Amino acid sequence: MNVPNHVAIIMDGNGRWATKRGLERSAGHLEGSKTLEKLAIHAMDMGVKVLSVYAFSTDNFKRSKEEVDYLMNLIIKYFNTKFDKLVKKGIKVIVSGRKEPLREDVLKAIKNIEEKTKDNDKAILNICLNYGGQEEIIDGAIKLAQDINQGLDISTFKREDFYKYLYHDLPPIDLLIRTGGEIRVSNFMLYQMSYSEFYFTNTYFPDFDKSEFNKAIFMYENRDRRFGGINDKKSS
Ligand code: IPE
Ligand code: IPE
Ligand code: MG
Repeated sequence: MNVPNHVAIIMDGNGRWATKRGLERSAGHLEGSKTLEKLAIHAMDMGVKVLSVYAFSTDNFKRSKEEVDYLMNLIIKYFNTKFDKLVKKGIKVIVSGRKEPLREDVLKAIKNIEEKTKDNDKAILNICLNYGGQEEIIDGAIKLAQDINQGLDISTFKREDFYKYLYHDLPPIDLLIRTGGEIRVSNFMLYQMSYSEFYFTNTYFPDFDKSEFNKAIFMYENRDRRFGGINDKKSS
């Protein structure tokens, strides 16, 4: 089975999932967090090595203080206690995004979960929090400029070399999934998705269970990835 090495998910549709049921948007976020817990373990069991998830974008600060606070508190709770099962399973949790303007208690929880799982090596769960894809490229370009100022020779610098200037040096994304029905990438991992296969589904994230995930994997298996070349076996 040709399982994607790096899967990324834009976990969208929590709010609509709740509204449809006459619930507060927060109920959708809570349900979504439970879905993520299950999916992370399932993805690892399937052989996925890196799972990146979009938990909160830099632009999500445009939402009400009430919703932002709810999400931040939920994230703290997950990092501090709810992820214990993932920790035991050997998943290393890392966080990608800007620190500013995250609250002190959020930063502390990030440090806590990263420290707690740093020696885990079964799979990586990369949580994108206060994350923006263009921001990541800008932050990386600034770090690269600093290295150039320090004398780095860029005469042979290749696109692969830029990965280490990103928030984490992860492999490129093989499969990008977006739940919730929108066909856009909303400033997610722009650098890493340059040759990703895309899978869009109308399913709201809280309903995106193991069998929904498997559908995306089966679709991926049948895609002909050419990377600009020609695949002799499949092209005729
Ligand atoms: C995604 O669900 C989760 C976050 C952005 C934090 P939404 O909250 O965007 O849900 P919809 O798109 O409004 O349904
Ligand atoms: C993308 O969803 C961000 C996350 C899933 C965290 P949004 O709901 O913020 O995206 P837009 O506003 O529909 O583009
Ligand atoms: Mg949304």
